[in-house]
Amino acid sequence: MIELAFSILASDFAHLADEVARAERGGGTIVHVDVMDGHFVPNITFGPPMVKALRPVTKLPLDCHLMIEDPDQFIPEFAEAGADFVSVHQEACRHLYRTLQLIEQNGMQPAVVVNPATPVETIVEVLPIVHHVLVMSVNPGFGGQKFLPLALGKIARLREMRARMGLNFRIEVDGGVAHDTVARVVDAGAEMLVAGSAVFEPGKTEQNARDLLQLAYAADPDRVRI
Ligand code: DX5
Ligand code: ZN
Repeated sequence: MIELAFSILASDFAHLADEVARAERGGGTIVHVDVMDGHFVPNITFGPPMVKALRPVTKLPLDCHLMIEDPDQFIPEFAEAGADFVSVHQEACRHLYRTLQLIEQNGMQPAVVVNPATPVETIVEVLPIVHHVLVMSVNPGFGGQKFLPLALGKIARLREMRARMGLNFRIEVDGGVAHDTVARVVDAGAEMLVAGSAVFEPGKTEQNARDLLQLAYAADPDRVRI
């Protein structure tokens, strides 16, 4: 089934609990937390303390997208803070398989992320051990960027690989998912739709989330619960 993962990067941090509640009322079912270190990506955001602050304000899964170098050293802290899903970039991990195992050993669901320039064929060996694959549809680092259509072919290829290999990982897409692009990512086969700037907007957050899910439903009524 298709779910909306709202990215708090675009929310008003001074009213975080209210922002999460609004997106949740609009039908969002996953909280997407963008962790950036100023090295792997040219921006700095937040880390485990943010996850810890979010944990008591929602029952939804906290989906932590780590855009950081050497993620291994922080994995126990994310577990301690209450993260549910932890995704690491293929490009940031020297020993990707080990890092994914470490996430699982810490009681969380492991996921792998591929940048726009990274072919999905480079992660074929780890597909059997991931909860989901995150396909970046922008260059990571900032919200509000333009959707890169090359992500569509990658999502479709992942779907084929999943069927061929008899696996059941989920497919997530992140970046530029908005009212004008959501139907295309749904058609391609994405199941976890990350959206930040298309959701959070003063006075409109709840409705924006609802509208996005409605558009996903219009594209594929069998895969969206509204
Ligand atoms: C980008 C982040 C995204 C970002 C998406 O590096 O990984 O999650 O918040 O923002 P929008 O939906 O505005 O493109
Ligand atoms: Zn993200």
